[in-house]
Amino acid sequence: MMAARLRLALLLSVFLCAARARPSLEPTIRLPSERAAAGEAEGADDAVGTRWAVLIAGSNGYYNYRHQADICHAYQIMKKGGLKDENIIVFMYDDIAHSPENPRPGVIINHPQGGDVYAGVPKDYTGREVNVNNFFAVLLGNKTAVSGGSGKVVDSGPNDHIFVYYSDHGGPGVLGMPTYPYLYGDDLVNVLKKKHAAGTYKSLVFYLEACESGSIFEGLLPNNINVYATTASNADESSWGTYCPGDNPSPPPEYDTCLGDLYSIAWMEDSDFHNLRTESLKQQYNLVKDRTSVHNTYTYGSHVMQYGSLNLNVQHLSSYIGTNPANDGNKFVEGNSLPSSTRAVNQRDADLVYFWQKVCIS
Ligand SMILES: *[C@@H]1O[C@H](CO)[C@@H](O)[C@H](O)[C@H]1NC(C)=O
Repeated sequence: MMAARLRLALLLSVFLCAARARPSLEPTIRLPSERAAAGEAEGADDAVGTRWAVLIAGSNGYYNYRHQADICHAYQIMKKGGLKDENIIVFMYDDIAHSPENPRPGVIINHPQGGDVYAGVPKDYTGREVNVNNFFAVLLGNKTAVSGGSGKVVDSGPNDHIFVYYSDHGGPGVLGMPTYPYLYGDDLVNVLKKKHAAGTYKSLVFYLEACESGSIFEGLLPNNINVYATTASNADESSWGTYCPGDNPSPPPEYDTCLGDLYSIAWMEDSDFHNLRTESLKQQYNLVKDRTSVHNTYTYGSHVMQYGSLNLNVQHLSSYIGTNPANDGNKFVEGNSLPSSTRAVNQRDADLVYFWQKVCIS
């Protein structure tokens, strides 16, 4: 009796998921394939010069597991994409993998079924070396201004492409750092302007996960310094953690922390599967915006935004983060939009939404 009822409930929920997911899936399946074909020629000369990446987790503490997990995952994408370690600079406090609270010592995961993303991550700036001064010095390529750490900086030239990814807590106009002071949006934009004035990049892409992350660039980032930024949220809302306990899918039972952030895993799980030689920044923005807003319903989630030189978004992702040759044949989007849709439906459950609001403190 019980079993039969359970089976019926299961069947019903599968049915409901499928019914709800399908209409919103179809456009995302069509869109990238169409655009990829059109964009192939125009982006052909995107990749000149060297690709640089700066990856930074601005928090510490085991309860902030997700930020460093995001950063480690991003490193693995850059590495598989073909960027060299000498061109990838990682800032992370590095107190997660070997924390006594970590149920899998020496391992960090960014997905409930995901493998280790910690192995091989360069420890360029860890502990107190994760600070505003070092971050700015690294961006500006100023070796003498760096204190501690590997000393690696973005020693870039006029044809180079730079990718910056920051994951942390934030507030209006401010981003967290594990140690004081915090990072202010106007200071960051001034550093980007300085870097532009020095003529040491061709274009720069900034992906930012934090609450109120839109406020870092809104009204501050000019559109004439070849910087294109996307943010997890608009200027006045939270961004969201994901793969949290009680969520579906939830982390393995031994984890009492969120494994990732919603916007972050959206761009990274997309990058994990796609041929980034044919996917443009704009296509990824659209997919990420869709996933982070639960297909524009905003049942939970946030408004993913873009700022700065929007004309850059026709370029292919491979110009910035490389591309995994194993994905060369993957032109379509089913591979990563299906799991997100299933989950999105499940997460409409009111209790879960309540839980998410409690944990969203990014
Ligand atoms: C690099 O940093 C040092 C120390 O802060 C500073 O004196 C110098 O002017 C900086 N160099 C450039 C090119 O900005």
